[in-house]
Amino acid sequence: MTQSNTSQTSGGGRLLNTFLNRPVEDHGSGWSNLWDSGESGLWDRGKASPALVDIVEQERELLNPFTADGKRKKALVPGCGRGYDVVMLALHGFDAYGLEISDTAVKEAEKYASAELAKPSAYHFGSEQRSSRTPGLVTFFQGDFFSSQWEFKGGIDENTKFDVIYDYTFLCALHPEQRRQWSASMARVTKPGGLLVCLEFPLYKDPKLPGPPWGLKGVHWNLLAEGGDGIITGEVGEGGKERKVASSEVGDFRRVLYVKPARSYEVAKGTDMVSVYVHK
Ligand SMILES: C[S@@+](CC[C@H](N)C(=O)[O-])C[C@H]1O[C@@H](n2cnc3c(N)ncnc32)[C@H](O)[C@@H]1O
Repeated sequence: MTQSNTSQTSGGGRLLNTFLNRPVEDHGSGWSNLWDSGESGLWDRGKASPALVDIVEQERELLNPFTADGKRKKALVPGCGRGYDVVMLALHGFDAYGLEISDTAVKEAEKYASAELAKPSAYHFGSEQRSSRTPGLVTFFQGDFFSSQWEFKGGIDENTKFDVIYDYTFLCALHPEQRRQWSASMARVTKPGGLLVCLEFPLYKDPKLPGPPWGLKGVHWNLLAEGGDGIITGEVGEGGKERKVASSEVGDFRRVLYVKPARSYEVAKGTDMVSVYVHK
């Protein structure tokens, strides 16, 4: 299993240099090249996000994997990498889908998922230890999140809207110029009333420094609640403060939960936040 190195935190190294002078429209091929040359260890943490495991287990009503009429909800992880969080969501009862721009990542994710669904690792569970629920389906697609032309399968097509979307280290992997597209695409694929769950990282990094990862302090709030372009130049406003429910703003999403997770990856230096937004 691959583990992360320190290049994400030092702000230097191979990951940063891959994108430094690359035109934004070629960033997708930059990620695919890194997968093809076996360098996913630059960001891969080797397990599902502990913060997401906890939020799924603790917010059982908000993140109930079943609709009122007993159907499984559909959860999507764009930029899912090896698919750790996709498998974790399926083990907690969702029909879970992972989207990746890299063909190699999709193949790796399919391999990983078939091994983990047969014999799940303990890290997929928190205080529940093992989910009492029968796992949902796991499906991976190759595609660019910013287009609607994915390699669809399993009854999903370009008109499908998902109940839950999860973002971890996808927004921070994108050039700041792509942030508006990120929020527009999130709104495109989320059902009205559906949830966007974000593990906000990195919040300790100066947003003016180059990435990936790009510093995101205040960015989710600006994009989703304020309907901004996600480019933060001054002080972080209301959304940067920890509070549970925020007042309604003009963006496509309304924040309903904002908490500091008790557990997260060490690389976050204790600054990660989990936010849950409802698509209006
Ligand atoms: C920093 S990695 C994070 C992967 C995964 N979320 C994780 O935590 O291990 C970002 C991922 O997004 C994928 N990616 C980048 N741009 C994409 C796009 N436009 N559409 C879909 N996936 C993309 C990359 O191939 C890469 O695997």
